[in-house]
Amino acid sequence: MTSATLLHLDSSISPSGSVSRALTARFADAWRARHGAAARHRHRDLAADPVPAVGAPFDALGRRTERRGTLPLDDIGRLAEGPDEAREWALSRPLIEELRAADVLLIGSPMYNYTVSTGLKAWIDRVTLPGVHHDPESGEPLLRETRVVVVAVRGGGYAPDTPRAHCDFQVPYLRAYFDRIGIAAEHLHVVTAELTRAADVPALNALQPLAVESLAAAGAALDDLAAAL
Ligand SMILES: Cc1cc2nc3c(=O)[nH]c(=O)nc-3n(C[C@H](O)[C@H](O)[C@H](O)COP(=O)(O)O)c2cc1C
Repeated sequence: MTSATLLHLDSSISPSGSVSRALTARFADAWRARHGAAARHRHRDLAADPVPAVGAPFDALGRRTERRGTLPLDDIGRLAEGPDEAREWALSRPLIEELRAADVLLIGSPMYNYTVSTGLKAWIDRVTLPGVHHDPESGEPLLRETRVVVVAVRGGGYAPDTPRAHCDFQVPYLRAYFDRIGIAAEHLHVVTAELTRAADVPALNALQPLAVESLAAAGAALDDLAAAL
């Protein structure tokens, strides 16, 4: 038993029938069963309860922060000028603290138009100010111990050497983002479920067996991760 913390983000716009929601729930249930009652599970639905998109005052505060280098959160707050910047910071800070408190970050990411959902992108923008994920003293990443599990779900297929492989701006984007904020490569686990629309899209109908295989493999991979993290 531990008092580990799981931060669980869903971002599919589909409240029911969502593959990413089913898979993240499967991971979260298994993870909670393993860690026991002391474990904390924070769930955010970024579609039903979206994080407000960042605006001009956020950018102004970010630029002022960037000119000072890497700063503690209290100092960033003191740099906020006027009520609009204070409001932007008041929206961001608790989400940054919530992320820092997580041992495991679980993300349900549906592919929309070749990339991540608007809800997930808004959360990423909101928790990312210049330098905020690095220690002001040492420069070390503050999230270096954080384990990240991305459940990437897409209607089509984007496996290497398939015709649409070059259109995947979802997983490469998330890999680049988490690398940049200092998540170690060995702590980033990406599980994909592909061809979820194979039964609906006539051109993909013949690929339904692959869709079944992909979903089963994703579930098994998440069970293994829940047992390990
Ligand atoms: C607005 C929208 C855009 C989509 N764009 C793509 C796409 O570019 N490529 C793709 O393979 N599937 C696309 N899909 C299909 C979804 O990726 C697929 O339905 C997936 O299962 C969504 O995740 P969910 O089941 O968790 O809701 C799109 C679906 C929607 C609603």
